[in-house]
Amino acid sequence: MRLVENILLRTFGRPRGIIGRLGGIIMARMNDACGAWTIELLEIKSNESVLEVGFGPGVAIQRLAPFVGHVAGVDPSSVMVAQARARNADKVETGDVELRRGSAGSLPFSDNSFDKVMAR
Ligand SMILES: C[S@@+](CC[C@H](N)C(=O)[O-])C[C@H]1O[C@@H](n2cnc3c(N)ncnc32)[C@H](O)[C@@H]1O
Repeated sequence: MRLVENILLRTFGRPRGIIGRLGGIIMARMNDACGAWTIELLEIKSNESVLEVGFGPGVAIQRLAPFVGHVAGVDPSSVMVAQARARNADKVETGDVELRRGSAGSLPFSDNSFDKVMAR
């Protein structure tokens, strides 16, 4: 049982290594609809700045980026940071999307930086 928990943690909970990369590919396919629904619920306006905590492979960030001024994210997994940056490379390049490695417990952004925050 502990082995299964460890595998799930490394795949989806805090993705690491090759299995974490695979987890990112799976999450990008499986979680997109949930991300779209979450974005809809937040009723985000084009002038708002949005933070996603635990962005995973960055699919929701990719959905949001064309419609809002600034999107940022934080995730402790270097594997997820790499996937999300690659997926959003053009917007990262322009600075419209800012993806940092970090944790919800210690956000690497100043207080009151965002209008809306999402985490799934
Ligand atoms: C199940 S995945 C979901 C990813 C993405 N939100 C999605 O729906 O595809 C959980 C994500 O939360 C991240 N995570 C785990 N602990 C975290 C923490 N303390 N702070 C921020 N993100 C965290 C993981 O690295 C992983 O990318």
